[in-house]
Amino acid sequence: MMRDDAETSGAQGAGAPRPRVSVIGTGYLGATHAAAMAELGFDVVGVDTDPAKIEALSRGRVPFYEPGLEELIATHLESGRLRFTTDLAEAVAMSDIHFVCVGTPQQATSHAADLRFVESAVAGIARALSHDGIVVGKSTVPVGTAARLRELLGALAPAGIEAELIWNPEFLREGKAVDDTLHPDRVVIGGASDAAETAMREVYAAPIAEGAPFLTVGLETAELVKVSANAFLATKISFINAIAELCTAADADVNALADAIGLDGRIGRRFLDAGLGFGGGCLPKDIRALMHRAGELGAREVVGLMQKVDEINMSQRQRVVDLALQACGGSVLNARVGVLGAAFKPLTDDVRDSPALNVAAALHLRGAQVSVFDPAAGETARRTFPTLSFADGMRDTLPGADVVLLLTEWREFLDADPVELGALVRTRTIIDARTKLDVDRWTAAGWTVIGLGTGVHEPLRASVAALA
Ligand code: UGA
Repeated sequence: MMRDDAETSGAQGAGAPRPRVSVIGTGYLGATHAAAMAELGFDVVGVDTDPAKIEALSRGRVPFYEPGLEELIATHLESGRLRFTTDLAEAVAMSDIHFVCVGTPQQATSHAADLRFVESAVAGIARALSHDGIVVGKSTVPVGTAARLRELLGALAPAGIEAELIWNPEFLREGKAVDDTLHPDRVVIGGASDAAETAMREVYAAPIAEGAPFLTVGLETAELVKVSANAFLATKISFINAIAELCTAADADVNALADAIGLDGRIGRRFLDAGLGFGGGCLPKDIRALMHRAGELGAREVVGLMQKVDEINMSQRQRVVDLALQACGGSVLNARVGVLGAAFKPLTDDVRDSPALNVAAALHLRGAQVSVFDPAAGETARRTFPTLSFADGMRDTLPGADVVLLLTEWREFLDADPVELGALVRTRTIIDARTKLDVDRWTAAGWTVIGLGTGVHEPLRASVAALA
């Protein structure tokens, strides 16, 4: 049974109405996807169960930090192509294509993904369908989930209504979400019929016209493409962090090494920045969910590989804690520690599984007086670790510091004046846990810079004194 006033397929002649879009879940992924769909010319309704989030978004306020998103949402609230509601049934009845963008967090008691939200979103869509439609999963799910959701949709959709479930993994990065969504590297569509593929080609007509490859694959492959991409990125980071350990032992420089190997087109320089390792709401939980699912399916090599990647990654946090202990003479008890950064990476206020916040908390537990500043994540960090002390500005974290830790490489920190900051601290020692500082500038200002795989750089005056 097709909708009265429009058809879902883009195969009709010129002037056929465009499919209308609902986006279920308005977190980082969904809010960005909804705004991007409006930007691409579709009428979009974003749905979430959290009334506070919907109320904020409806007023043009994005409840998290994502550069450019607030402006895009404001533009399309104004253009009339975008609105938000908590009423799933109404949104589904008004739409032809339903994107599922809800979270799949790690379960509290296992490595497996918690699929409650995707299941309830698909069930909710199915029950609310009033005309034919396409349900497009975008959430990151363990392989095999989409096939089960397809059955669920079939079982719950009202009789006589045709509803197809396909998978369209999303590869956006936080901090660059708007650009990644509007200009994706590729569009992957899993398990689509000809009609659904035609509809997806219409939805993504603009990126396709820009040259984004459009790949059609099976349902299971689409699910695996996403987790495999994240697993590969995680592996690349843990690889360079393992090499960084070797560089430290051998007195080599991991940054120079990464530049050199990165010039090999087969390797590439991106995601070869050694340091504190990966965190956030995606890479850590995705490799654990992959480990869990691979174990269920008997793919033991994947389990072993991901286990090692995870171990190397988590050990980077301990390594930085150890460096801070060493810098303070073996104990941080009552030492003042200035921490620059709380977010899991720059350009976000996300502190989920943030290595920076972990390190700050670990030092606090060892009795240090830790003062943390992050340009965007102060509030989210405070909510997660209320016992830590948060400063209002970079300079406020530093007075009397025995050691400073650069844990998130915000531009503001990298561009800071080491001479000015040097006047504030008690000891000019900085642990550059992201290996991003201009070491010459900092050592010239009298700082000892301790890197991960880049050695310990003593200030110029020390070497001059040694020469005298
Ligand atoms: C990641 C993927 O990059 C996206 O493609 C994917 O869509 C997303 O997960 C997701 O699954 O939704 P994101 O979590 O936003 O995106 O962050 P990344 O930019 O991948 O960074 C992840 C972590 O790796 C950060 O903590 C970052 O500091 C760390 N990292 C990154 C390194 O330690 N070294 C590097 O060289 C690069």
